[in-house]
Amino acid sequence: MSIRRITVIGAGQMGGGIAQVGAQAGYEVTLHDMNAKALAQGMEAIHKRLTRAVEKGKMNIEARDATLERLTSSPDLTEAAQEADIVIEAIVENMEVKTEIFRNLDVICPAHTILASNTSSLPITEIAASTKRPERVIGMHFMNPVPVMKLVEVIRGLATTDEVYHTVEMLAKQMQKEPVEVNDFPGFVSNRVLMPMINEAIYTVYEGVATPEAVDQVMKLGMNHPMGPLTLADFIGLDTCLYIMETLYEGFGDSKYRPCPLLRKYVKAGWLGKKSGRGFYVYD
Ligand code: CAA
Ligand code: NAD
Repeated sequence: MSIRRITVIGAGQMGGGIAQVGAQAGYEVTLHDMNAKALAQGMEAIHKRLTRAVEKGKMNIEARDATLERLTSSPDLTEAAQEADIVIEAIVENMEVKTEIFRNLDVICPAHTILASNTSSLPITEIAASTKRPERVIGMHFMNPVPVMKLVEVIRGLATTDEVYHTVEMLAKQMQKEPVEVNDFPGFVSNRVLMPMINEAIYTVYEGVATPEAVDQVMKLGMNHPMGPLTLADFIGLDTCLYIMETLYEGFGDSKYRPCPLLRKYVKAGWLGKKSGRGFYVYD
């Protein structure tokens, strides 16, 4: 199956990045968000990133303008998705909210449309079961920041067909990404390995072992991580980190995945990290 039109749902940090790399790869992309302000900010951020790439000499003006011409936005879900060959969902990491949007997309989209989720941790099989087309539902998990990171985890649900898998694998390659196939288990590979490390780093702060700055220095200087785990947690979003830990905790029923109480407290306070201006650090 060939893909021409992509609809991205959710104009936050991930959806904006996915829409950008899709348009850069030559696809017609429509970005949708239920929040008009978030949609406008998402489009503005793409514009700024492409303009910065021109200023840095990494892209010419013609390529930027052609990319922007392929990119449209709509606050109306039906208008955004009714002609899509593939929809890539990148909204909040919550099963109820995601299954509701998949149920709606199943009604709105043509029969051939692939419904993909950028979920960090939630079971694809369960998301697929909320539709009447589970064979056309798949996980397409990009990494943050999308324009920079090479990996896309591709996750089949129980019913996902080979045709859908290969179409998505090809799409990821067209977007200059490296697809890696993983099975449908909570957190897949990326967040099953990464998020317990971040959660443990939060425990070291919670238990007074070290300050956030010290924890980050240890992991940057000692392990050559590009960002310390607490800076990374703020960058990902502390709400997303908590949702992922809860999925691991519930999914495996193992106390080793218990979310740190300090993480819960910060999320309850609205300290969501960089996107809200405050997390383990304070941002302008
Ligand atoms: N969006 C787009 N591009 C960005 C960006 C952003 N938010 N932040 C940085 N960049 C780009 C810069 O424009 C720059 O591009 P050029 O080389 O083309 O000029 C490049 O990245 C390097 O940027 P900087 O020199 O400013 O900064 P840096 O060298 O410190 O790199 C970083 C920034 C790439 C983010 C680096 O710190 C890094 O790799 N951090 C770790 C990121 C990571 O682990 N991501 C995975 C998170 S987990 C996940 O995504 C899965 C999940 O489900 C939660
Ligand atoms: P975000 O908070 O930056 O953006 C989410 C956007 O979705 C918001 O603009 C919000 O208005 C919109 N939204 C929420 N519910 C909606 C609905 N019903 N319909 C339309 N729009 C809706 O979140 P994010 O960091 O971009 O994460 C999005 C998804 O990507 C999550 O599933 C997350 O787990 C996953 N993910 C995140 C990262 C990361 O590092 N942040 C990395 C990989 C995957």
